[in-house]
Amino acid sequence: MLLSNLGSLLTLISAASAAQLTQVQGYGAGRAQMWIYVPDKVVPNPPLVVAIHSCQSSAQSYFTNSKIPWKQGSDAKGYITLWPSSPNSGTCWDVSSKSSLTHNGGGDSNAIANMITYAIQKYNVNATRVYVTGGSSGAMMSNVLAATYPSLMSAVSLYSGVPANCFVSSSNQVAAWNNDCSGGRSQKTPAQWAQDVFNMYPGYTGARPKMQIWHGSADGTLSPNNYQETIDQWTGVFNVSATVPTREVKDTPERGYTTRDFGEMVQGIWAQGVGHSVPSHLSVSEAWFGL
Ligand SMILES: *[C@@H]1O[C@H](CO)[C@@H](O)[C@H](O)[C@H]1NC(C)=O
Ligand SMILES: *[C@@H]1O[C@H](CO)[C@@H](O)[C@H](O)[C@H]1NC(C)=O
Repeated sequence: MLLSNLGSLLTLISAASAAQLTQVQGYGAGRAQMWIYVPDKVVPNPPLVVAIHSCQSSAQSYFTNSKIPWKQGSDAKGYITLWPSSPNSGTCWDVSSKSSLTHNGGGDSNAIANMITYAIQKYNVNATRVYVTGGSSGAMMSNVLAATYPSLMSAVSLYSGVPANCFVSSSNQVAAWNNDCSGGRSQKTPAQWAQDVFNMYPGYTGARPKMQIWHGSADGTLSPNNYQETIDQWTGVFNVSATVPTREVKDTPERGYTTRDFGEMVQGIWAQGVGHSVPSHLSVSEAWFGL
């Protein structure tokens, strides 16, 4: 009896002093799970970073993955991180069905949008400081979210993905694989990729997030061609040149990486010799977010 009371007391004390990844029920409609990490020293009216996992992963395993440093960033800077968890078999995000590729279509993108809206209210997040990042399937979803819910976030930093709508399933399957896209054979002009974005949220004319796009030249899972196709998509949306950068810096942020700006809203970071997927560069992504 005494021992068990002591145990409960210790549990209470550790819960009070150590922030943990916690599942949030009732965020709104959606099959995906919502997990949140509120650091011990959260800043008032905090920013929010949405970290979206890759295939064969989950909120919990992404959160504890040593290559995914957003918990550490959250602890150091006091922003909140939101970790959606995919409901699909194989646990890739649905970036192929019409419902997820459409604003308010009821798919996974809609679920994550509902989590963001819920987090803004529940945790007093500064709604103008919501940012999205992800790797692989999470990077694909980052592009889809930027296309379907552009007003919910102000910047995106995605690692090794494909353009929004590139994984579209001709038979409208949920979380389907798309060999043409993964193999780098889905190639379109900037105007065509931009039109795909416009079609995902017809009539939208408001602000859109700025896009930072990372890709490795040795990516054997999602062809490196998807780097330029994604640059084409967002330069098409922002109507700036996809071929002539406004700035190019070699060996930045590290040796072998090249950073290219296409105006203020699109930045590409090409990682020579790096495979799938490019490791998260916390301080570079944070800087892109203004954190
Ligand atoms: C929310 O973020 C914006 C942009 O950084 C900032 O100007 C504003 O002061 C913030 N609001 C609060 C209440 O901190
Ligand atoms: C895109 O920019 C060009 C100039 O660079 C301009 O002529 C054209 O009208 C713009 N298109 C749209 C849709 O804004």
